[in-house]
Amino acid sequence: MRNHWSSRFGFIMAAVGSAVGLGNIWKFPYITGMNGGGAFVLVYLVAILCCGLPILMAEFLIGRHSQKDVVGAFNELTPKSKFWKSIGWLNLAAAFIILSYYAVVAGWTLDYLFKSITGSFAGHDPKEISGMFGTLVTDPVRQIVCLTAFMGLCLIAVISGIKKGIERWNRVLMPTLFGILIFMAGYAMTTSGAMEGLKFMLYPDFSKLTINGVLEAIGHSFFTLSLAMGAMITYASYMDKNEPIYPVAIRIAFLDTLVAIIAGLAIFPIVFSVGMEPTGGPGLIFKTLPQVFATIPFGGVLAALFFLLLAFAALSSAISLLEVLTAFMIDEKKYDRKKATICMTIAVYLAGIPSALSYSTFAHIKLVKGMEILDSLDYVASNFMLPIGGLLIAIYTGFILDKKIVKAEITEDGSGYLTIFNIWFFTIRYIAPVAVLVVFLTKIGVIKL
Ligand code: PFF
Repeated sequence: MRNHWSSRFGFIMAAVGSAVGLGNIWKFPYITGMNGGGAFVLVYLVAILCCGLPILMAEFLIGRHSQKDVVGAFNELTPKSKFWKSIGWLNLAAAFIILSYYAVVAGWTLDYLFKSITGSFAGHDPKEISGMFGTLVTDPVRQIVCLTAFMGLCLIAVISGIKKGIERWNRVLMPTLFGILIFMAGYAMTTSGAMEGLKFMLYPDFSKLTINGVLEAIGHSFFTLSLAMGAMITYASYMDKNEPIYPVAIRIAFLDTLVAIIAGLAIFPIVFSVGMEPTGGPGLIFKTLPQVFATIPFGGVLAALFFLLLAFAALSSAISLLEVLTAFMIDEKKYDRKKATICMTIAVYLAGIPSALSYSTFAHIKLVKGMEILDSLDYVASNFMLPIGGLLIAIYTGFILDKKIVKAEITEDGSGYLTIFNIWFFTIRYIAPVAVLVVFLTKIGVIKL
């Protein structure tokens, strides 16, 4: 008998844990800032509804119906087609590659958490604090220590299984994350940058919104819900058949979006209150924010809370990818959970070492477009593997899978949700694939806008 989540709440926390990651707390606020603030937020909401949510529902359907790992799911649903079975492998490969470099970045959050707890930022001038980031990424020993610590935490969570490991961890991690985030947003509202921060995030300045911003919104709606990396298919395979797909999926999309917006409301007012720039990249979190924390009242406590929040977000996302790999070894290779988790953790750990040494020992190695190893892997996964995977999943559920199965899944065996099914079916057939295809072709330069 396959293991199942102990309750709907447990499943939602785990899936939200996967969805809420560095994408929400770092990337969303930053791309919002660059694309006209509130106008971008509106477009992003539409992208979630037309692209992210429908594909999330498709992944839930595939996972819940097959009750298998990501490779097994496609084998089970379309046993005769070699081509469609390969989607499972593509998802699995994406999970492996993404986890290998994400664990390195997640390791940085642990290092910063340690630094803020031990008060390492206090008494340093802004330049020194900003320099600490360079010192960290170019120190091979520290990089390996961080990666080891982070993968160790993932291992502990996944090895104990669905209910006793992943669900239990997320039941603690997620509510704590929400609590810290709301506290920080509340604090941010008391600072002098509150109005400017609110305006920056919420005022829709359509003149700053470009077609690229729209494409960015679609691409991000996709990454932020952990789609096309097997996570949602695997998690849904532990869903009870009588847990409905649509109500659960919409809650997850809503909570994920809420966290992204509150993260922006927590970060920007604080940044503005000390007159700093919201310009970003990794710098916003690892360079700008620590400088801000060093200058404001209770900054030490806030810094520790913020990096704890970031570490929790990264950990709950990484756990979901390690589970994709572990479930594959259990279902397809018949390993027991302990052996499967240990083998996969070691494999990811070894694969993560080149990324960890990207800016030190291996800094001379440039793989794609002159980028270091870590950046190259992120480029290939985010720009190729995820859009192609998502496009294939949309086409698969829209056109390839038996419509009877698909309809029965979304309408919960005809017990309701018929209108939802009709809207969803149209979207997954015609809107989501076209949107993803346009993003993909533009990113690789085939369409020039
Ligand atoms: N949904 C995640 C995010 O927004 O950060 C994406 C993700 C990245 C999930 C890495 C899992 C992961 F290991």
